[in-house]
Amino acid sequence: MNQPRDNWSSSAGLVLAATGSAIGLGNLWKFPFITWQNNGGAFVLVYLICIVAVGLPIMMAELLIGRRSQKSAVGALKEAAGPWWGIVGGWGVLAGFILLSYYTVIAGWSLYYFAQSIGWSFGGYPAGMAAGDLFNEQVGNAGLQLMLSLGFSIATIAVVYFGVSKGIERIARIFLPILFGILLLLLVSALGMSGSGEALRFIFRANFGELETSGVLEALGHSFFTLSLGMGAMITYGSYISRKQSIVKASGAIVALDTLIALVATVIMFSVIFSVAGMSDQVSGSPVGMLFISLPELFYTAVPFGVVLGPLFYVLVALAALTSTISLLEVVSSYMIDERRVPRHKATILCGAAIFVFTIFAALSFTGTPFLATLEIFAGKIGWFSTVDHFVSNWMLPTGGFAITLAAGWFMTRNATERELLDGTEPRWFRYGAWRFFIRWVAPLAVGAIIVSVILGRDFS
Ligand code: PHE
Repeated sequence: MNQPRDNWSSSAGLVLAATGSAIGLGNLWKFPFITWQNNGGAFVLVYLICIVAVGLPIMMAELLIGRRSQKSAVGALKEAAGPWWGIVGGWGVLAGFILLSYYTVIAGWSLYYFAQSIGWSFGGYPAGMAAGDLFNEQVGNAGLQLMLSLGFSIATIAVVYFGVSKGIERIARIFLPILFGILLLLLVSALGMSGSGEALRFIFRANFGELETSGVLEALGHSFFTLSLGMGAMITYGSYISRKQSIVKASGAIVALDTLIALVATVIMFSVIFSVAGMSDQVSGSPVGMLFISLPELFYTAVPFGVVLGPLFYVLVALAALTSTISLLEVVSSYMIDERRVPRHKATILCGAAIFVFTIFAALSFTGTPFLATLEIFAGKIGWFSTVDHFVSNWMLPTGGFAITLAAGWFMTRNATERELLDGTEPRWFRYGAWRFFIRWVAPLAVGAIIVSVILGRDFS
């Protein structure tokens, strides 16, 4: 017989858990870097437009598809749009599986830097240590990489094991306030630094002459990743809403918080970077460089109270990553639970273990292991890690997101979606007709443009 379905214990549960899923490495690691690469201002403005015009409508679509069916991605899409749509759900589950397998590796690095920074805070930052060498040393150390990602995987499995209200929601309730608190402390300290004015100008002063078309598409692609859209995570989280809770309000809150945190993280990092002469030339050519190479040293040489803020910063990264990895594991496990009738405890451990096998591949991609370090399927993407990252960010999330816009906008009846969004809980400013226009036309066309540009050779990973 059916097991009774676990649900969020309160209306804040969904918002906290979904915000936890959305806020992750995408906000702290990827967004600041792509903002840097695309010269700030205009890029940030375009990103905000993408979030509102494409991300928000799809967020509502995913949540409503989940709430309506009370099933996870595969079952929910089948029920919403027809039996064939189970394939789109399955595509999402696969995306979750692969994404989690390598996301865990980067999350593991935050544990390493947390431990190191505690050491530096007490023992002093080793004078003359080249931060880049330290980074290369840690990613090249196979045993260390496996330990870090195993530790992170176990933490993820442990949370999902306890279920929706006692695991995922409880962790989000504890961790999100801590995360906001740490960010606030960091922000106050960053705003006091000499580079903060330049940082704010860089981020908020739009100069469209500096923005290229590729930047527009990058902003759009990132809005998917950062809001955890396109692979059924929000469908799954939406399926645990039991009482009537406004999907419109919840979506608005999740999207607003995710965006706010991305901007705050960027202000913090740029204030630090602009405060140190010559640093802006040194920020190396990858997001890894900014978070794990430039920043550690700066905390100990330039940031006031860096000895406290340094370790706090890496805890922040780890907490943000954990609330995202649990949502990824939940997508995969809930498929086993809902569709294959496997009990939660067993499903979580089995899925977590299966994913970890692939985490091993990702963790060893930097250690010179034959095949894993040299594999090249997509031009310029060398190694297992880069290959799967490229595949998920460029192909899986946009195609999944595109299909979801079609399901909600074209295959579900107007009546079905209207009933979910106009259920008496919606805020007064909400216009159903506007949502329908965005989900039928604006979102699919925009996401279609990403897919076309990927086919033509553009790279978003
Ligand atoms: N939104 C997360 C981040 O910004 C990543 C993620 C994508 C999590 C898809 C779950 C699902 O880091």
